[in-house]
Amino acid sequence: MPGLSIVGTGRFLPGRPYTNSDLARVLDTNDEWIRQRTGIAQRHYCPRGQGPADLALPAAKAALESANLAPSDIDYILFNTMTPDHVFPGSGTVLGANLGCIGVPALDLRAQCAAMLYSFQLADSLILSGAAKRILIVGAEAHSAMMPWRDWDVLEGTSDRKPSAQDFERATKHRGWAVVFGDGAGAVIVERSDKPGAGIVGVDLHSDGTHVEELCLPAGFKMRGAAGEIGAEEWLIRMQGREVFKQAVVKLPRSVELVCEKSGVPASEVDWFIAHQANRRINDSVCERLGLDPARMPCNIDRYGNTSGATIPILMDEMWRDGRLRPGQLICLVALGAGFHWGSVLVRI
Ligand code: ACO
Repeated sequence: MPGLSIVGTGRFLPGRPYTNSDLARVLDTNDEWIRQRTGIAQRHYCPRGQGPADLALPAAKAALESANLAPSDIDYILFNTMTPDHVFPGSGTVLGANLGCIGVPALDLRAQCAAMLYSFQLADSLILSGAAKRILIVGAEAHSAMMPWRDWDVLEGTSDRKPSAQDFERATKHRGWAVVFGDGAGAVIVERSDKPGAGIVGVDLHSDGTHVEELCLPAGFKMRGAAGEIGAEEWLIRMQGREVFKQAVVKLPRSVELVCEKSGVPASEVDWFIAHQANRRINDSVCERLGLDPARMPCNIDRYGNTSGATIPILMDEMWRDGRLRPGQLICLVALGAGFHWGSVLVRI
């Protein structure tokens, strides 16, 4: 039976990083709070006028280059994003056009921070069914469009003025989530492999929409008359951070236990646990509950913040390029995102 192997990876982070102290210019926060509660030191933001498809393009090109492939070698695109360029069409088709993959099937996945897990499951099935041979999987996010401040010039340091008291207060009201998110893109190319054991070893995936209110961005087509009335408030995330945290630290270790149990693979045989980077403390707690050395669950949230559907492919690219991730290894992808969607996927790459 054919499986899949990783043949190339890429990433792109726009512009310069913004530190926690930069954020303190537009809302009431401080470096110590953000580092202690989340592990984040800095993040990047997508420039005005650009979206996830723009961030995905250089990441995809870097992945093609690392695999020594051309756009014409790709026969399917899976695009993970919760911040699409447009409500419709999807960002995958925009990326395909910009990359020169005209006519290649392109599908957006709406599983937020867990989308990479769904993409791997889907890629494996597409390859197994013969529908695709070489798939470009991209995760890209432009959260900057939903940040609760208007004072980008103050944040960027191009203006000495202070935000108005009203703007500062509004941004501060949303500081619990606004300091967490960053923008970026990661890309992974997988192709059909006939090596024995290559590809998906086990999957434990779940969706439970009873948690929508705990983490969502309300704007959408549920609102009749929205075109005439929609206000900026609908474009701000609603997040019950503590509840999300509590759910993640219970559901994720259980899922890892289940996928290992179902696959007959002890956790000790997994080379890397590649987890979504939502909050350093969540991943430390998952490791503690599983009795794992945290060194086996690499972390880069300090440099990029939470880039939602892009965290896993960005981390995979870092690890592929510095040699930690190598062909033949067994990895476990782990994530929980809005929906909730969560789970873990074991892959022999
Ligand atoms: N700077 C300074 N103080 C702050 C900030 C900030 N940025 N944000 C909140 N505070 C204050 C609050 O006002 C509160 O003060 P009070 O005690 O005087 O009222 C205090 O800090 C505690 O606030 P909480 O919101 O309870 O903080 P908590 O410890 O829960 O940390 C956090 C918040 C970091 C968001 C955490 O709950 C978390 O990481 N949750 C999980 C988030 C997550 O995983 N989200 C999304 C997944 S991504 C996706 O799918 C979209």
